[in-house]
Amino acid sequence: MDALPSSSAVIFGAGGIGRALTERLIDRPEISQVWSISRRPQDFDHPKLVSRQMDPADEARLIALASELRESGHTLRLAIVTNGVLQDPITGPEKSWKALDPVGLAHIFAVNTILPAIIAKHILPVLSREDHSVFAALSARVGSIADNRLGGWYGYRASKAALNQIIHTLAIELARTHPKALCVALHPGTVETALSEPFSAGGRARLSPRASAEAMLQVLASLEAKDSGGFFGWDGQAIPF
Ligand SMILES: NC(=O)c1ccc[n+]([C@@H]2O[C@H](COP(=O)([O-])OP(=O)(O)OC[C@H]3O[C@@H](n4cnc5c(N)ncnc54)[C@H](OP(=O)(O)O)[C@@H]3O)[C@@H](O)[C@H]2O)c1
Repeated sequence: MDALPSSSAVIFGAGGIGRALTERLIDRPEISQVWSISRRPQDFDHPKLVSRQMDPADEARLIALASELRESGHTLRLAIVTNGVLQDPITGPEKSWKALDPVGLAHIFAVNTILPAIIAKHILPVLSREDHSVFAALSARVGSIADNRLGGWYGYRASKAALNQIIHTLAIELARTHPKALCVALHPGTVETALSEPFSAGGRARLSPRASAEAMLQVLASLEAKDSGGFFGWDGQAIPF
């Protein structure tokens, strides 16, 4: 399968990768409507684009959004949560346990773990039951416990590991009502965005948001129902939890 058989998609977050995913989906002829959900106003327009400026943690707004999606006349086949923070602005990424701070940790978990879970609560029931449909959340390879050899970044690693567990658990429940649907965690690669900018000095090769978005959409289109609950990289490789 080389393209998602989708007629409607919703992207949460309009940061570097969220915006690129929205643009890539707008370009796809098989998708007739792309919803972009962000706390910031959208600075571009397109006949296929439906923007909603809202706090995605506001459950009343999520309930209203789910109703809008249901009543839009389009079948929702793809939802991607791109919201995430690498560090608390005050504490920064913790290099040592000495830097662990309850308020900083709570902030990272609120955005990286709890927010995608609450979005899933309201959006999974709207996904198409008839065909291949996907709910995905952007995780990060550093959330892999098996892959953690360097340590550090406690809050980011732990919040993404917890997100992966939420995704896996959601997938088990989703399969009972939506046997053709998938719920997966994705690692977008190391991507040139505001999130990775403070750590770009190491010379590590970074993907453009466009390249990452295109690659992840190809991966999502290639996954089958048996892959639901898994964690996949932008290159299609399964990543261990
Ligand atoms: N860039 C990388 O190298 C990289 C690597 C691995 C994983 N990731 C993951 O990819 C995702 C997207 O990252 P990005 O690189 O596109 O970063 P970005 O440009 O900094 O975008 C951050 C996103 O997170 C949302 N966000 C930030 N603080 C929030 C808050 N308090 N409440 C709700 N939403 C909040 C923003 O939503 P608004 O649109 O509402 O502002 C925005 O969509 C993240 O989950 C990140 O962990 C990125």
